[in-house]
Amino acid sequence: MPDWYELESACLDCRGCALAETRTNVVFGVGPRDAEVLLVGEGPGEQEDLTGEPFVGRAGKLLDDMLAIIGLDRRSNVYITNIVKCRPPQNRDPLNVEQDACIGYLRNQTALLRPKLIVCLGRIAATRLIREDYKITREHGQWVEKKGIWMTAIYHPSALLRDPRKRPETFEDLKAIQAKIRETCTHTYSELPAL
Ligand code: URA
Repeated sequence: MPDWYELESACLDCRGCALAETRTNVVFGVGPRDAEVLLVGEGPGEQEDLTGEPFVGRAGKLLDDMLAIIGLDRRSNVYITNIVKCRPPQNRDPLNVEQDACIGYLRNQTALLRPKLIVCLGRIAATRLIREDYKITREHGQWVEKKGIWMTAIYHPSALLRDPRKRPETFEDLKAIQAKIRETCTHTYSELPAL
């Protein structure tokens, strides 16, 4: 089992699939390495590829706002990464072969982090991490426990930008995530004053 340093170094040097040919930067992940909440998106977009940080484009700004609503912040209490660490050209869905080549990094990140909760951002992460035939429209906000980790999925922030009518449902899902954190996490909210 690698440590964080070894894992990140291996990932930054990875040539495990064809995305290595077209990437500018590998986007490993961001956040405290003792976070109890892990957020998993799909893959880097253009801004992420250019900066090496996940969710820094328009969708990322919305994600930060969504997290702020429930007292979460990428620098202090959540870890954010993606199913694939390199940008798929033209932001197409990552191919299965690319996901397969990359998923070991996420497995190892999860093993090192030992999160209490995993929140899948969108369909790609949910079908990969929760169930192959997961239906985001029908099942978002529901919880399943896998190997002692509570898992859920919410709409991807890009989907919320495309269709703002989905936002009220996502607000409900965020409140449920906040309740689950209060139930299962020990230090995620500890720095915040009691409401
Ligand atoms: N969309 C994703 O799924 N991940 C990112 O890092 C940015 C946009």
